[in-house]
Amino acid sequence: TSAQIGVTGLAVMGRNLARNFARNGYTVAVHNRTPARTRALVEEFGSEGEFIAAESAKDFVAALERPRRLVIMVKAGEPTDAVIQEFAPLLEPGDMIIDGGNAHFADTRRRERDLREQGIHFVGMGVSGGEEGALHGPSIMPGGPKESYDSLGPMLEKISAKAADGAPCVTHVGPDGAGHFVKMVHNGIEYADMQLIGEAYQLLRDVAGYEPAQIAEIFRTWNQGRLDSYLIEITAEVLSHVDAATGKPFVDVVVDQAEQKGTGRWTVQIALDLGVPVSGIAEAVFARSLSGHAALRDASRGLAGPKASPLSEAEAGAFADRVEQALYASKIVSYTQGFHEIDAARAEYDWDIDLGAVSAIWRGGCIIRAAFLDRIRAAYDARADLPSLLSDETFAQEIAAAQDDWREVIIAATRQGVPTPGFAAALAYYDALRAERLPAALTQGQRDFFGAHTYRRTDRDGSFHTLWGGDRSEVAG
Ligand code: 6PG
Repeated sequence: TSAQIGVTGLAVMGRNLARNFARNGYTVAVHNRTPARTRALVEEFGSEGEFIAAESAKDFVAALERPRRLVIMVKAGEPTDAVIQEFAPLLEPGDMIIDGGNAHFADTRRRERDLREQGIHFVGMGVSGGEEGALHGPSIMPGGPKESYDSLGPMLEKISAKAADGAPCVTHVGPDGAGHFVKMVHNGIEYADMQLIGEAYQLLRDVAGYEPAQIAEIFRTWNQGRLDSYLIEITAEVLSHVDAATGKPFVDVVVDQAEQKGTGRWTVQIALDLGVPVSGIAEAVFARSLSGHAALRDASRGLAGPKASPLSEAEAGAFADRVEQALYASKIVSYTQGFHEIDAARAEYDWDIDLGAVSAIWRGGCIIRAAFLDRIRAAYDARADLPSLLSDETFAQEIAAAQDDWREVIIAATRQGVPTPGFAAALAYYDALRAERLPAALTQGQRDFFGAHTYRRTDRDGSFHTLWGGDRSEVAG
């Protein structure tokens, strides 16, 4: 017998993905650099389906039916290149290498180009949903040549999560690095969602005076409404958890320094290159890095802050409702920014990415899965050339209804000295976009003053320069 798919790299994500294929009836060749792991997988989970354990790279390739479909699940960066170099010489034209790691999309573009010369189809495939998702159904974001999806797609559709309407959470996102790009932005949005939830929690605690267990209840209530999402759900779980050793709320015994593996940072780096203002995502990345500067934070603890004036119990409930509004409005903004980044990449790399399809495959399986994504899909389906999510009437109306509370929450946070960089950046973005005039005009004047950088006028075409050091008359620029 031969295997319809092979997975090499059997750490938890690779192992669970291999099991998912096997549980769905596919024969799966499995391989790992250290064969002990391969044997362990088959010993432990062999009863779940058909596995072919391959000790060597050669055996692994020989076990695959042609055209071969070889999934690599190793660390992004050099380990991925090393595995590609190991297997590529053993493959034949028409075979497929599928990289299911969190690769940087620029690496994926390079690898796709290099392998194309050998006739090998390289599919950079974003996979979201953590360990559980990989096993029970992730959201899958494959890029690479469209034709590869013809044979790979049906298998992915089988193992992927299904949205509430039954649609598989996978689509051919676009050529070469498009899949990994979209996965990267997914993670950027994930960072923003987490930061906004974190700010909501801190406000409920420090301004409203609630305990973690009470805040968990508030999140549970929110999860019944428009904020219904995996991240809100697990937030309630984490907040209600009590540390067994101390009896304290778990959240109070965890060191408050957030780590990151880099995909959020990439989202911001690329956005800077593309000139896309993803300020909410950037604040989320910066908030994590700030939290990690322990020495700097120690040195700053004595700095002056406002006098705390906690709310009364009666006020607290109303405040919690306002925080929900602020969180929801800020969430709309961070998704607006993330989708703008994908849209910009579409133009920059000539990728035919369907934004409605992207929101559709994020409805299930992935970390940011949420009822909300169905509404984004509806917005793009109604109008594929939507300039921004904020231009969608429904979202615009929801923000209109939320904005007073959103502002009040940020005012309260500022007054009490609770940092809300995510809420505030989102509101600033919203206010800047809707502004009639921006101080960018003044920036242009300053640039022209000190560097003769020229400016355009509102009333005439062309570029102009004012003779600032002379008689201040205007000349053509
Ligand atoms: C997912 C997650 C996954 C992983 C992140 C965590 O979609 O399943 O995003 O990719 O959990 O890499 O990222 P940080 O370690 O940077 O928080």
